[in-house]
Amino acid sequence: SKTILTDDFGRKHNYLRISLLEKCNLRCTYCMPADGIALSPKASLMTADEILALAQTFVENGVDKIRLTGGEPLLRKDFPEIISKLSTLKTSLSITTNGILIDRHIDALKQAKIKKINLSLDTLVASKFHSVTLRDQFEKVISNLHLLLNHDFTVKVNVVLMKGFNDNEIIDFIKLTQFLPISVRFIEFMPFAGNEWDRSKMVSQNEILSQVESVFLSEEIQKLEDEKNFTARTYRIKGFLGDFGIISSITNPFCDGCNRIRLTANGKIKNCLFSNSETDLLTPFRNGESIENLISVSIKNKKKVRAGMVTIEEMDDPSLHFDNRSMIAIGG
Ligand code: GTP
Ligand code: 5AD
Ligand code: SF4
Repeated sequence: SKTILTDDFGRKHNYLRISLLEKCNLRCTYCMPADGIALSPKASLMTADEILALAQTFVENGVDKIRLTGGEPLLRKDFPEIISKLSTLKTSLSITTNGILIDRHIDALKQAKIKKINLSLDTLVASKFHSVTLRDQFEKVISNLHLLLNHDFTVKVNVVLMKGFNDNEIIDFIKLTQFLPISVRFIEFMPFAGNEWDRSKMVSQNEILSQVESVFLSEEIQKLEDEKNFTARTYRIKGFLGDFGIISSITNPFCDGCNRIRLTANGKIKNCLFSNSETDLLTPFRNGESIENLISVSIKNKKKVRAGMVTIEEMDDPSLHFDNRSMIAIGG
């Protein structure tokens, strides 16, 4: 059925990604600029009740999947309260986290019936962990990954690949799926304000697949059926417990099936990860105005592919990314 969440290309936006805050306890270079970002004033961040009320409007209009992001979502002091409130809505609830605070919140996650957790982990080498995150939390993240598995959470491990940094760990990550029931997802490095992206730093889908093909026999590499509205194209090595996927936003975008809409921590809609056009919902909501028309207009303005950047050459133009937010203030 046609709702305010269906765009002119027929895409139904049933997946809402809510960023809870702009802060993080890591400093990943691809996500946060070296000199930090200007944080939104605290009064302009959504409160727990405002998050619930805005989320409820989306759910009433067809959203049935909500993911909490950040910054690092578990850093919100009221995180347990937020998930407990959101767990009353008729929607699935999941989070994307760096994993550091998982042990502290494991009971709250279970109580809120969260079953799926996406965990960021870019290297399996302790000393390299520090050079991408600028913090020493490797052991904590690894132990929390195992804690999640022991508690039967479904875990996806997000690996942002960067040339010369972790492209020599692709096979090690895949070998991890032999005995661990995880989905490893290799992500093409994407451009955002302040992350000094350029195409030569990215590891492409083709390069990933050719490494896989040089180590495993073609009959061992099984293509899996991708999830509906996928971000990752997925594979399994025959007989392995887990699987792996490739999120190729740069060389092989998946915008045809895009069902994602984003709400920033300060209550603005972004209708695309790469769009710098934002629609403030929080101010009108605080003024007691209806927000449904604003949502509808934002969805109407959504472009077919990557906020209008159709070719990879257009992605190369840094001026198109400077005035977008930094990833830390979007949440992926
Ligand atoms: P699932 O719901 O488990 O499929 O997770 P997800 O892939 O939607 O979300 P996650 O937060 O784990 O993000 C993984 C990677 O995919 C990150 O690098 C995100 O930036 C990227 N990603 C998520 N949604 C989109 C999207 O709509 N467009 C693009 N280009 N990338 C996205
Ligand atoms: N390119 C690709 N993925 C990124 N992420 C953060 N910044 C980037 C980037 N520049 C990933 C994180 C996290 C997810 C939400 O987004 O690793 O897992
Ligand atoms: Fe959707 Fe934009 Fe991501 Fe494409 S780049 S999948 S349109 S959010």
